[in-house]
Amino acid sequence: MSGAELAKTAQALVVDGKGILAADESAPTIKKRFDSIDIPSTEENRRDYRTMLFTTPGGAKHVSGVILFDETIRQNAADGTPLVRILRDAGIIPGIKVDAGAKPLAGHPDETVTEGLDGLRDRLKEYAKLGARFTKWRAVYRIGDTIPSPACVLANAHALARYASLCQEAGLVPIVEPEVLMDGDHDIDACDEVTEEVLQSVFAELAAQDVLLEGILLKPNMVISGADCPKQADVNEVAWRTVRCLRRTVPAAVPGIVFLSGGQNDEVATLHLNAMNKLSETRPWKLSFSYGRALQAAPLKAWGGKTGNVKAGQAAFLERAKANSAATLGKYA
Ligand code: 13P
Repeated sequence: MSGAELAKTAQALVVDGKGILAADESAPTIKKRFDSIDIPSTEENRRDYRTMLFTTPGGAKHVSGVILFDETIRQNAADGTPLVRILRDAGIIPGIKVDAGAKPLAGHPDETVTEGLDGLRDRLKEYAKLGARFTKWRAVYRIGDTIPSPACVLANAHALARYASLCQEAGLVPIVEPEVLMDGDHDIDACDEVTEEVLQSVFAELAAQDVLLEGILLKPNMVISGADCPKQADVNEVAWRTVRCLRRTVPAAVPGIVFLSGGQNDEVATLHLNAMNKLSETRPWKLSFSYGRALQAAPLKAWGGKTGNVKAGQAAFLERAKANSAATLGKYA
């Protein structure tokens, strides 16, 4: 696939007023989500829950793409229709999470490096055949007194760049996701500094691996206060600091930046995105969303695992999707 085609897919994912639904929870994570509504994580429940989200009437007006998990990209709805076909028929681009998870980084307690490069070329070929057009790989950085270490920052950036290069070779648009966690009592200054350092390192490694910047999307955290920090920065401060950090680090060739929600309350995640898109600073890239929890918390609760609640779950999903779609245009009220 040519660079122009990769760029076209990347642009389609951040077309005006649309963003991405991250529905790629691994088996342990979806179990945690289902625990919260007291239902078992069976294959059937996972299928029905995700079918509900993907068949939401009007969803494609606000959602450009969905990130799937390995099980889901191979799964059929109860009526036998492949979930990938449901998405494609709705005009939604299917994507796939391809990393193998964050594993302890040798010699560095409390830090992780994301694994999954071994055999990735062959897995990408298979995912492309199954209908995926983009991918995701998540690196994780924890803030502490002496972390993230330079070793953690470099190892994760290098892996992200190797991943991105393999994806582009396979004709798939890589979403490059370096997530600085909001866990901890650090202030917004600490998040700002670490996020800037991480992004600098990621783009240095992407350049070193000759990754085509026009054919990727960046999925970063926002610059926010630690969840347990006594002083919580307000919406405007999060917005201007995040945009300042991104302007300092993300080349203009990158078509879009799609934020993760990272455990923010769903309404707050929308307000943050909206405030960023209202700033007067020039932004060479689109600012949109690739939310998991901030799009799914409400529909998960409304559904509660009951067939009779599918309409209520879809209404709750549509409401969050619509709100975030407006926020990509700075028009959320
Ligand atoms: P959250 O929005 O819940 O952080 O999930 C996004 C995601 O895909 C994390 O990898």
